[in-house]
Amino acid sequence: MVKKNRSLFMMLLLTLLLMLTACGAGGEKNTTGDAGENTGDATGENSGLKDKKILVGTEATFAPFEYMDDKGNIIGIDVDILDAIFEELGMEYEIRHVGWDPVFQQVQNGELDMGASGITITDERKQTFDFTNPYFEATQVIVVTEDSEIESAEDLKGKKVSVQINSTGHQAAKKLLGETSPDILAYENLPLAIQEVINGTTAAAIGDNAVVYEYIKNNPNVKLKVIEDDAFDKEYYGFMVKKGNTELLNLLNEGLQKIKENGKLAEITGQEIE
Ligand code: ARG
Repeated sequence: MVKKNRSLFMMLLLTLLLMLTACGAGGEKNTTGDAGENTGDATGENSGLKDKKILVGTEATFAPFEYMDDKGNIIGIDVDILDAIFEELGMEYEIRHVGWDPVFQQVQNGELDMGASGITITDERKQTFDFTNPYFEATQVIVVTEDSEIESAEDLKGKKVSVQINSTGHQAAKKLLGETSPDILAYENLPLAIQEVINGTTAAAIGDNAVVYEYIKNNPNVKLKVIEDDAFDKEYYGFMVKKGNTELLNLLNEGLQKIKENGKLAEITGQEIE
């Protein structure tokens, strides 16, 4: 009897010891992970995201921010910034040309992790999405033919104006001409909107300054001029994630902060931003 009891006691003791060891090891592993210096080895919540390839959506007819080279690769300022951020983070990403409206739809429904498309941070968009800190300052400008008599935003009233659909240029046109004005013609992308000015379909187009200037630079034969007007607000570009995706948002802001501090961002954009 005594012998049996003793072996039972020993077994219990052994089990208890084993359990304690297991707990200890588990605890230790966690601590090591959390305190680990290599952020690439981050455990817990981050590990899934850090090991995953981040899917980025864009609309790649927006030089110099995103456009295609001869081979169909997406290149531009946004891509250079993403390269720098993801290198800092030790993470990978893939960028896809999905079109302007789909960027928003697919970030919202989770098909894409984020949008990088010269996207202006607006209060309206902030209701559905979260944005990184700003990486570029922009504004809208008017583009007209060289012989046009239009001189200001005010002069656009009563004229036909082309814009990229659901862009901040589109918003600006609505503000000037009225929310439902039939004089506003909205196109898939900005180059198409500018093309309509060249065709004579519209009297003017409204679009992001750097992109309009780049268009004129790349098409030296077209006779266009740019009108700047204080009526247009300052805008700031940010990278966009689904609302509540703070994990990715924090990583992006972390990487962005690093390339702001080491001067890489300014080198890419030619602009200083806080
Ligand atoms: N900045 C403007 C906006 O957010 C236009 C961006 C258009 N971007 C593009 N890749 N087509 O509405």
